[in-house]
Amino acid sequence: MIDIHTHILHGVDDGSPDIKISIEHLKLMQEAGITDVFLTSHFLRPAFQNPVELITKRIAELRDAAKKENINIKLHRGAEIYLDDGIHNIIESEQLSLADTKYLLVETNMTEFPADLYHILYELVRAGYKPILAHPERYMNVMMKPSIVEDIIHKNVYMQINSSSLLGHYGNSIQKTAWRLLEQGHAHFLASDNHCRVPIYDHNLAVNLIRKNIDDFTADLLTKTNPVKILTGEKIEYFYVKSIQKEKKGFFSRFFK
Ligand SMILES: [Fe+2]
Repeated sequence: MIDIHTHILHGVDDGSPDIKISIEHLKLMQEAGITDVFLTSHFLRPAFQNPVELITKRIAELRDAAKKENINIKLHRGAEIYLDDGIHNIIESEQLSLADTKYLLVETNMTEFPADLYHILYELVRAGYKPILAHPERYMNVMMKPSIVEDIIHKNVYMQINSSSLLGHYGNSIQKTAWRLLEQGHAHFLASDNHCRVPIYDHNLAVNLIRKNIDDFTADLLTKTNPVKILTGEKIEYFYVKSIQKEKKGFFSRFFK
């Protein structure tokens, strides 16, 4: 499995405070079956805006330390980019994309979507980027009206759900919203958003719940198939429930009867 959203890079944001904690979490992730991790530290102007060189240095430190500990996980560069006007102009110079691809992990205001959200996303897509919205289920606008997510996907934006949302760690509303998005096929990735706050990595519990409540196809799509495509450059489908429906009779009816 590949975890595309983590804050395990040490000393750069509100995630891992030091390299020991990062290594501890990489060990937990390896035990859980993770093979690749994207290091998506916050990039939020001006609170979290680390120089490119510092991130490069930290990644090298973590790769070295992981190697010494015989941890066999590939670490990929990335960022969780807070959307603001003009952000599309600095993605390249700040090296904010996922593993140097056109995919971007993005976030916005939790309490209320900014009025120019669609404009900022449009600018990114027009510049050739493929935004992935982190944890849509945690936004107030989505909890109030989950169908807004379908509109955003239509604007060429992928969705990444947090495993902790499915497990109920953020409360009932977020949990309910996350499962609803998943059941409707409005989720393309499942990731941990691991901030290293507790010495636990329960991402795989959420994956197993998806296997139990939905199916293996969806669990694999969100944790393996689609994340691999970020690295290989293959096209990721925006809407996949209909194609599953063709392959697997009865899938759709299970959710909407
Ligand atoms: Fe995050």
